[in-house]
Amino acid sequence: MTDRDIRPHINYALVEDTRPPMYTAMKYWGKKPHNIWNRFIERYCPPNGTVLDPFAGSAIAAFEAVKINRKAIAFDLNPLTAFIIETLTSKFDEAAFIDAFGKIESIISKDPVYIQHYTREYKGQKGVVFNYRWLSGKVVELAVEIPSGKKTKTGTPQKGKRHFLNAADSDKKKAKEMKSLAIPYWYPADKFPDTPTITHKFIADAEGNGFQYLWTRRNLYLLSRIFDEILRQKNEDIRLQLLFGFIQTLHLTSKMVVPRHQTAKRDFSGSWGRADYLIRRRQMEQNPLVIFRRSCTDKQGVISALCDAKTSLPKKLKVFDFNKSKRIHPTANLTYGILDIADLSRYISDKSVDFIITDPPYAGLVPYLDLSLVWLVWLQKIDKKYLPDIQSEITIKKGQIGREEYRRRLQNAFKQLHRVLKDDGYIVITFHHKKLQEWNDFVHAVRLAGFKFDKVTHQYNRRSGESNVANPYGTSGADFYIRCVKHRDVDFSDDRSGLNHFIVQKAIEIIAQRNESTPYDSIIAWLIPEMLQAGYVQPKEYQDEILRVLSDNAGKGKIFKTWQNKDSKSGDYWWFMNPGQFINFPDRPLQDRLEEAVLSILRRKVSVKLDDILGELFQTYPNGLTPDPKGVKNVLEKYAYRSAGNWKIKDVTIKSITQHSEIIRQLISIGKRAGFSVFVGEREQPEVIQNGTTLRDMANLLTLAPLRKLYDPRQIERIEMIDVVWLSHQDNYIECIFEVENSTGFTSAIVRGSNIEKHTPKFMVVPKSREKELRSIRDPLFLTSFRENNWQYTTYENIGRLEGYSSPSIDEVLRGSKSL
Ligand SMILES: C[S@@+](CC[C@H](N)C(=O)[O-])C[C@H]1O[C@@H](n2cnc3c(N)ncnc32)[C@H](O)[C@@H]1O
Repeated sequence: MTDRDIRPHINYALVEDTRPPMYTAMKYWGKKPHNIWNRFIERYCPPNGTVLDPFAGSAIAAFEAVKINRKAIAFDLNPLTAFIIETLTSKFDEAAFIDAFGKIESIISKDPVYIQHYTREYKGQKGVVFNYRWLSGKVVELAVEIPSGKKTKTGTPQKGKRHFLNAADSDKKKAKEMKSLAIPYWYPADKFPDTPTITHKFIADAEGNGFQYLWTRRNLYLLSRIFDEILRQKNEDIRLQLLFGFIQTLHLTSKMVVPRHQTAKRDFSGSWGRADYLIRRRQMEQNPLVIFRRSCTDKQGVISALCDAKTSLPKKLKVFDFNKSKRIHPTANLTYGILDIADLSRYISDKSVDFIITDPPYAGLVPYLDLSLVWLVWLQKIDKKYLPDIQSEITIKKGQIGREEYRRRLQNAFKQLHRVLKDDGYIVITFHHKKLQEWNDFVHAVRLAGFKFDKVTHQYNRRSGESNVANPYGTSGADFYIRCVKHRDVDFSDDRSGLNHFIVQKAIEIIAQRNESTPYDSIIAWLIPEMLQAGYVQPKEYQDEILRVLSDNAGKGKIFKTWQNKDSKSGDYWWFMNPGQFINFPDRPLQDRLEEAVLSILRRKVSVKLDDILGELFQTYPNGLTPDPKGVKNVLEKYAYRSAGNWKIKDVTIKSITQHSEIIRQLISIGKRAGFSVFVGEREQPEVIQNGTTLRDMANLLTLAPLRKLYDPRQIERIEMIDVVWLSHQDNYIECIFEVENSTGFTSAIVRGSNIEKHTPKFMVVPKSREKELRSIRDPLFLTSFRENNWQYTTYENIGRLEGYSSPSIDEVLRGSKSL
């Protein structure tokens, strides 16, 4: 057995790290978390082995592979991938770059067009126009900075005084006049391609059919002049690096830019909001020189990226351009190229790749090549290799590439991957799409190729992946990491009834595991990867299928009941008609478990980072039970406060824990004096009350083993989670129970209590401040259980009073209690 075989699999979600500068400088849609990919590569590819990413995009897999001594092959149909790799692995001389940039900056800042349009007087001072705001085709405002005159060491001017002005007549006049500006420099004059991504409306809004109309005339002038200056650079590395900064400038100075937040009216920067070609009513025309400077010298600019690449990539990296000789160089560390995956196995030998990690296109969610044309049309002037083969993209385009064709291409892609992967090699594919139909196509393609689903993990993304760029849906910003192995020994059943059975059984499992009424979206988020893993999901079925199957099993006399979810938009609540039939071993509901886990981490670690908490929780609660980081944050905000980037437990939380233990102490003392034998819950036993005394020291009983004749072992396990149990003097039956609910939900008490005979008195002890909350519960399920199981509630004050009684009793407790 190799080392690779014995190391534990990655079967749980990992926590995403902050992206280093080499991955932030270039815009690309669907960038993946580098540290997580690194972990997968490290685990599933042996040292010196070969990792392939055939849909490489911004090439994160390749860079992460070479960082840890693996060979990488990075292909993409998009020539931009080659450009990114060439730039980030080019020789970087920071001083020479700053010098070259400075020269261009100086030339542009003296250009008469620049001076006329992007400098301006404000209250007698000379200012730089950072941007013009347009509303419905008219300049209405502008942002002006009065320079401080000071520069940082990279040549970036230090921030000056910033002002927002209403556009004056002179500004409006300039905006009109610029339309007839002559441009003596080269710029791309190509017409827009015939693609549904570029609509007639867009062409009308841009006021012309051609890439030149993506920019206002003055911006086109300045961009073409900057480009012209870059092309004059003799040093090829510096030229490439300047082009990298230029590429970032292109989209950020186009008409597609919107102010960063609709509300941040006064913000000095804008963005290319969504992955589409769209000119909005409210636009921001940004100063090309300012943006070029930011793209070169800012924190997320070329200098930072190249310095980072220089330090984090191995020193002697052999990088090989596949397109030069159409072969994989055996000794290269990184082979990159522009390649349609359909041709992959023509160039990569069968069974030669150790590991594949890839993020395929998800139907037509992001039109990668169409969007990249904003950059590629300029790069084509330097090298024809930047002309993309748009026809071969794996996507769906209305009127051009239909679903059948998309399926065919996707299936062929996975077949290619199957061929080149070594026997028993692993492939990890990230995938997410709201529509089940997309899952079907995807799963079918993977299955047909002969891969076996090995494990699916659910991974929350911290920032936009392809899925949440274009489609902010239910299980937001989450990807599935689908790990498959090459050999095929799974029975991919096509039996419809088998599928139905599977859906119902899995839905039962998830609701029972969560042990709380579960929103439909949560069932789906868990069910789909399970179906994948089992090799299910039929291509002809649509997303209604799961709902149909589940609905067939809901209603009177059936398995499930549903009701409207008024708390969130994640679909109706699903629960059991007869919970006892499925919840044999009631545990606490997911939310309570989550709260408890977070609290326990906070208490253990004193000061802790969110990432560390998530890391621990993701391991404890895999897949459908993986907590949404937002939920975790809510819990943290409840119990902790933030200090220097860490979370620390609040004083009130500590007080509340102390109070909880104090009430339990009182209940032990009262119970003993009332002549009972007292048991304290397993979780509460280690709590310290005073002078090192624990609740364990006070209780008569630390296990409920004496009740073995009355309850089965699993029931005993659950009853041992109850806060306080008063038992008959001989320890042979339960007289009454208490659950002290200081802050967590009330439901779990009910669930635990349901293990005990209905007639046994059960008390929920709450602080006075929670009485209203408890009384306002309307959930019929909760109320019925409460009443039918002989529950009452009482307050801390009442228990405190009882402590003073010389001979307390259950009747005394009852006297101070109320029903719901
Ligand atoms: C989801 S993106 C990958 C993004 C990448 N994970 C990253 O971190 O940047 C999918 C990629 O598939 C590429 N692609 C689409 N059709 C292709 C084909 N036929 N052959 C190779 N690559 C293709 C697109 O250009 C795009 O870069």
